[in-house]
Amino acid sequence: MKGVVLAGGLGTRLHPLTKVTNKHLLPVYKMPMIYYPIEALVQGGIDEIMIVTGGNNAGDFLRLLGNGKEFGLSHINYTYQEGEGGIAEALRLCRDFVDEDQVTVVLGDNIIQKSIKEHVDAFRAQGKGGRILLKEVEDPERFGVARLEGDRIVEIIEKPADPPSPYAVTGIYFYDAQVWDVIDSLEPSDRNELEITDVNNFYINQGAMEYSILEGWWTDAGTFESLRRATEFVAATGANNPD
Ligand code: DAU
Repeated sequence: MKGVVLAGGLGTRLHPLTKVTNKHLLPVYKMPMIYYPIEALVQGGIDEIMIVTGGNNAGDFLRLLGNGKEFGLSHINYTYQEGEGGIAEALRLCRDFVDEDQVTVVLGDNIIQKSIKEHVDAFRAQGKGGRILLKEVEDPERFGVARLEGDRIVEIIEKPADPPSPYAVTGIYFYDAQVWDVIDSLEPSDRNELEITDVNNFYINQGAMEYSILEGWWTDAGTFESLRRATEFVAATGANNPD
C-alpha cells in the first residue's frame, strides 16, 4: 500500500496567513499542519509516501521534512503541482509512484483524532474498488456530502446548498489502480478543477465503493474557523491516537 499526502493548492481562504507560506506549513498546536496527515499514514502502517506540494514554497517542505526521519521513515517522495487544478489533478501526479498498488490518500489539511489503521487494513482486505470515510458534521454544506439509501451510498454531492445527509466525506480516500483511468476520464468542474468527488461517484456508480463512519473527531484546517478548531482539538486530545 502506498500513501499520498496532497498539499498543493494556494490556500487563499487563509490570506494573509498564506501570502508568504504554504497552508500546510502553518502551525496546528505544536506541529506544522502537514505533520498530522503524514503521521496518520505512518501510524496506519504505510511507509512509502509521496507528498504533492505546490505554490511558491515547495522547497520549504524539503527543508522541514527531509527524508522523514522524524516519522521513522527512510525516505519521502516529493512532487510538484503547478497551479490549483484540483485534488484529483494533484493525485494524478502520483501515478508512476503508486503504479499497480493500492493507495491511501490524505488531504494535507485533514486532521483526525484516531488512527486510520483499521481502515487501511479493511481496504487491504477489500482488495479492489474504493473506500471513503464519512463523518457526521454540523455544517455539511462545506464538504462533499453523501446521499445514503439505507446502508448504501448512492451519490456524493460537492458542497450542496441543501445537504441530503449530515455525513461529510472526509479527505481520506482509498483507491485501487483503476483510479488512474478514472481521473483521465474526468472533465474539469465549474470551478475548473478535477474533482475528487467525481472520482468517488465513478466508483459508486460501479458499485465498487465501500465506506465506514469515522470515530472520534475529524476536521479540516483550511479556514480560519476550522484552523482554530483543529488547534483546540489537537491540544485537547492529540491526533492519530492508536485506540
Ligand atoms: O476536507 C474534506 C473535503 O475536501 C471534502 O469533503 C470535499 O469533498 C473535497 O472536495 C475537499 O473540499 P475542500 O474545498 O475543503 O478542498 P480544498 O480545495 O480546501 O483542498 C483540500 C486539500 O487538497 C488542500 O489542503 C490541498 C489539496 N489540494 C487541493 C487542490 C484544490 C491539492 O493538493 N491541489 C489542489 O489543486
